[in-house]
Amino acid sequence: MKKLIVSSGNQHKIKEIKDILKELPIEVISKNEIGFEEFEVIEDGETLKENAIKKAVELSKKVSGLVVADDTGLFVDALNGEPGVYSSRYAGENVTYEDNNNKLLKELLSVPDSKRTAKFVTVMALAQQGKVVQTIKGECNGKIAMQRFGEAGFGYDPLFIVDEYNKTFAELGDEIKNEISHRANALKKLREELEVLLEEI
Ligand code: IMP
Repeated sequence: MKKLIVSSGNQHKIKEIKDILKELPIEVISKNEIGFEEFEVIEDGETLKENAIKKAVELSKKVSGLVVADDTGLFVDALNGEPGVYSSRYAGENVTYEDNNNKLLKELLSVPDSKRTAKFVTVMALAQQGKVVQTIKGECNGKIAMQRFGEAGFGYDPLFIVDEYNKTFAELGDEIKNEISHRANALKKLREELEVLLEEI
């Protein structure tokens, strides 16, 4: 079976990508599963696209086959798009999801429900032999809750209320999240491309 290598060490992201692509006749494997636990890139790009490309291209120089990388940010309107590309280190370097969620709630303390609109944006990059093959963007609209709701998912999921359901991703659970999320929307667009590319390899 053809392989798609995910350039990420984030087990939540890897699981989501595997679930979303489970219908395709490809084996989705993470960098750790092929012995690249130590491989890391510094995510110093100014955009999600730059970071996604860097993660995919750098790993594709070291492995054979097609590599995919995802860079995701939460863009909050009342915070002029913050935390955006800095979502993973919003509360500082080496912080937990909990720290980032606390900081977000604090920044939005005086912002009313109607002004807490936000979106998740994912940019996915595909690369092979050190070159970018394709980049694609997926989005999901919602708003930031006043407090955490739900236990599922990861990162900002307990605070992100999805417009379509009026519930947080953490309340909705993996199955629904993987149908409608920013990551799912990006991967849906990539599906056709992936099928063609994997045929060609
Ligand atoms: P990354 O730089 O793409 O790994 O992600 C940036 C940060 O965004 C992560 O540390 C997570 O906190 C958050 N994040 C990414 N994807 C999701 C998601 O699907 N749900 C909630 N938070 C996410």
